[in-house]
Amino acid sequence: MIELNDVSKVYERGSRALKNVSLRIEDGEFVFIMGRSGAGKSTLVRLLMKETEPTSGSIIVNDISLNDMRRSQIPKFRRTIGVVFQDFRLLRHLNVYENVAFAQRVIGKTGREIRESVPEMLTMVGLSSKYKANVSELSGGEQQRVAIARALVNRPKLLLADEPTGNLDARTADEIMQLLEEINRGGTTVLVITHSREIVQKMGKRVIVLDRGMLKSDREQVQL
Ligand SMILES: Nc1ncnc2c1ncn2[C@@H]1O[C@H](COP(=O)(O)OP(=O)(O)OP(=O)(O)O)[C@@H](O)[C@H]1O
Ligand SMILES: [Mg+2]
Repeated sequence: MIELNDVSKVYERGSRALKNVSLRIEDGEFVFIMGRSGAGKSTLVRLLMKETEPTSGSIIVNDISLNDMRRSQIPKFRRTIGVVFQDFRLLRHLNVYENVAFAQRVIGKTGREIRESVPEMLTMVGLSSKYKANVSELSGGEQQRVAIARALVNRPKLLLADEPTGNLDARTADEIMQLLEEINRGGTTVLVITHSREIVQKMGKRVIVLDRGMLKSDREQVQL
């Protein structure tokens, strides 16, 4: 469960990114976050990852209160979250397999665990045949699949996607959305930031709209 209680965020140089936002997302939900550029969407994601602190208000993620969390607990907490971005953020000098394996190596998984879970993840995202390819040889859609496999390989409870299809054509974006929906059906809570009304309408999920830092609306979208 995710809960924001009257959360505001003012950045140091005075920018008010979020204003008194309260919302609740249950385990297993699929939620879109929309809003104009500068509305505070990425700030919300950074707050949920405890990458930045709220100026006021309280935040609970995966049932843990972030306000009370000690610094030493942050790495363990972050493992309960997977994140993907518009620009993929892959390690360009490594191949597909190594990009996913890397996420496991840094948290000390054994070679045996890695050899088991990396192929499983690559199969899930539909890239098992390209495991040896260098990521720079892949299409944008394929690169995002690698990023999703990497985000999920440590089995997080929550997947945060900040404009995951921002760099992709409409058809590839649809395919990535289908994949995210499948991941959600497997029990992972999924939060997706998007600018695409088309995607949101097609998917028929809950939509939270931010407007200049404020919660503008929060509703179930009827699927067309
Ligand atoms: N690190 C930062 N320091 C100062 N101000 C920031 C910082 N990050 C974001 N902001 C400001 O906070 C506001 C919200 O930014 P945020 O990145 O959350 O918007 P966004 O909704 O994700 O926009 P976009 O759709 O363009 O990605 C903006 O006014 C932005 O300039
Ligand atoms: Mg953003």
